[in-house]
Amino acid sequence: MEFKPKTIGVLTSGGDAPGMNAALRAVTRAAISNGIKVKAIYRGYKGLIDGEVEEFTSQNVSGIIQRGGTIIKSARCPEFPTKEGREKAYETLKREGIEALIIIGGDGTFTGGRIFAQEYNVPVIGIPGTIDNDLWGTDATIGYDTALNTIMHCVDTLRDTATSHERVFLVEVMGRDAGFLTLNAAIAAGAEAAIIPERATIIEQIEAAIGQGKRKSKNSSIVLVQEHAIEGGAQAVAKMMEHEHPEFSTRVTILGHLQRGGSPTANDRILASRMGIAAVQALLEDQRNVMVGVKNGEIDYVPLSKAIKQKKDIKDEKWEAIQVLSI
Ligand code: F6P
Repeated sequence: MEFKPKTIGVLTSGGDAPGMNAALRAVTRAAISNGIKVKAIYRGYKGLIDGEVEEFTSQNVSGIIQRGGTIIKSARCPEFPTKEGREKAYETLKREGIEALIIIGGDGTFTGGRIFAQEYNVPVIGIPGTIDNDLWGTDATIGYDTALNTIMHCVDTLRDTATSHERVFLVEVMGRDAGFLTLNAAIAAGAEAAIIPERATIIEQIEAAIGQGKRKSKNSSIVLVQEHAIEGGAQAVAKMMEHEHPEFSTRVTILGHLQRGGSPTANDRILASRMGIAAVQALLEDQRNVMVGVKNGEIDYVPLSKAIKQKKDIKDEKWEAIQVLSI
């Protein structure tokens, strides 16, 4: 028999990502068109604990598909990982009559959601919203494409000044523990090298990057450095380069939270819209504790436990592309 909750809750949690609003809009409208009430929970798990809940109509989500960030706010919540925190969160669900949750976020959001789902037997569906694209079981996460484009445009801009001087530009890129953003942005921007945590040793990667610059006898080069590939990020790489090769003049650009902002690309809006509808569909099919993913263009569902625990691999072909294209 079809499971049909009367009321569902939806929240965005962790680092915001462009396209979260589009996902919220899709969840809200897909639920309402199936006769399900939607309650938006503000500030992620913090709002769930504090009871910051508002019923949403279709109008609440109009005019937001093009907006970056999340209109229902996001937060990192140190209380939710505690038993007491989750108990308070469950009290909110009971008080508000929320029978299932759709959580939009990344690894941390799903880890909390999975524990909560098991403890209180609440159906939880995850929608991957993170610029890092580091979740197993989906080819793309909401916000990744927009962040990639933002980084690419920033590097394009930097190249103007880089080519006017004999300098190595080290551009620090976000990604938490993963190098997807760094590697793919490097390919898209035509960078000389990418330094990512998943490959070789960092020293070897730095040496390779330097070799790249020298061999080409170009007057400048751009190297993208994943924020946590090395302690100290791009600044640390710059220090090492200048120490080992004083002939190089380096400059560091830390893109920082610029990478999380901006209007979502068409790809992210479409992905978010499809995933939002698929999340509601999953609840109607009585699925629980799954993440909505997309595999080879098709919607797919994977257990939250796998999405969190399994490691998504960087493709060798992408890694090799950088080496081939920077000769
Ligand atoms: O997970 C998204 C992300 O932007 C990471 O790429 C980055 O390491 C982290 O969040 C930064 O978090 P905060 O905004 O809390 O500083």
